[in-house]
Amino acid sequence: MNVRPPLDGNLSIFGAQWGDEGKGKVVDFFCENVDIVVRFAGGNNAGHTLVVGGLEVAVHLLPSGAVRPSAICVLGAGMVIDPSALLEEMQMLADVGCSLDAKRLKLSSRAQLVLPYHRQIDALREGGPNAIGTTKRGIGPAYEDKAARRGLRAGDLRDGASLRAKLERAIADVTPQIVAAGGQPPELVPLFDALAAQAETLRPHITETEPLLARWMRGGKRVLFEGAQGAMLDIDHGTYPFVTSSTTLPAGACAGAGVAPRALGAIVGVSKAYVTRVGAGPMPSELDEAESERLRSHGGEFGATTGRARRCGWLDLPALRHALTVSGADYLALTKLDVLAAFERIKVCEAYMLDGERLAIDAFPASADELARATPVYREMAGFAGISGDERSFEALPQTARDFIAYVEQALELPVCLVSIGPQRDATIVRS
Ligand code: IMP
Repeated sequence: MNVRPPLDGNLSIFGAQWGDEGKGKVVDFFCENVDIVVRFAGGNNAGHTLVVGGLEVAVHLLPSGAVRPSAICVLGAGMVIDPSALLEEMQMLADVGCSLDAKRLKLSSRAQLVLPYHRQIDALREGGPNAIGTTKRGIGPAYEDKAARRGLRAGDLRDGASLRAKLERAIADVTPQIVAAGGQPPELVPLFDALAAQAETLRPHITETEPLLARWMRGGKRVLFEGAQGAMLDIDHGTYPFVTSSTTLPAGACAGAGVAPRALGAIVGVSKAYVTRVGAGPMPSELDEAESERLRSHGGEFGATTGRARRCGWLDLPALRHALTVSGADYLALTKLDVLAAFERIKVCEAYMLDGERLAIDAFPASADELARATPVYREMAGFAGISGDERSFEALPQTARDFIAYVEQALELPVCLVSIGPQRDATIVRS
């Protein structure tokens, strides 16, 4: 097995925890010489903070590759797109000198739309007893409408008359649940007028991206598939029901972008050197509030989308091993090693105890109830005091960090191809 992904094929980069692994930086690093960056699932529940010409911008729908002026960005059919959010993001990037014209930004006509009533339903539910701490961006309700076959798609924005009729039908369908939950019924006219205005700007970008991608790949273009959220939030393999509503795994790129599994290329899972989670759900290696706060403040662990304080814990190897298995990862990228430089001693969860028994590392519980009862078995190690952020080779890292990497590789049976030791683009070490 090579210790780093080949530089001449396609790449799939995805989160191997509960989102917020630092994928944006890893994508940014690897997309230097790719031609096309594709997002294939989720919507503006994601968030990456990027630095463009010294200015910080947060992207939610657009792939992180958007800030590379030569890369074409594709928003695939598996995504749910809030038109108002997309327009806002395009404007924000234009404001920092990174415009996305119709040649550079392609939106699949098959992508679903997130409409204001989806956000309304999400918020109403999150105010109730079954809240799971969603981002309230309407993601779950939009995917529900997709599965119920009443969703509106980006392609519908191309035809005003049929758009109005479809919107009317969709509103009639969703109104009873909104009213039952105590919300105001959505109104057709203002909703349609706003959507029709948004359609004007978005129309040139909407296209059948699937044959385009196929043609580009036949012509030898390099494609990077950029995952959103993380494997532990995957609708099937994550910590259900505390998950998002899409397939966040690399496999989701096949359906979500309309490409063959062999198109995925090398698969890189991204994990922090510790774990974080936003929203509800079990997290066996979570720290108590005082320690969590310490890690949170050193790591700047606040959501890029909602600003929420992230729950923090020690690296959880059984969860990570599960994520990498169901993703078919070839490599692991470890981020934020520098954050652990602030700790004299660190811990790594190497197994779970469940009801008095030690589980094998690859026996990650499928049930959220079991996971909530699981307690971590920790290995204690020295912290990474001495990481300066200026190291540029694995050999230059303190021995404690190298021992940690070697231990993680051995437990996961996967090579660590990249480590990130600071927020700057060049605070990144790749195995050579
Ligand atoms: P939803 O995707 O907004 O429906 O939220 C479902 C769960 O996924 C909640 O726990 C969210 O906090 C979490 N989630 C969704 N997107 C992200 C993300 O990009 N990073 C971290 N957590 C996320």
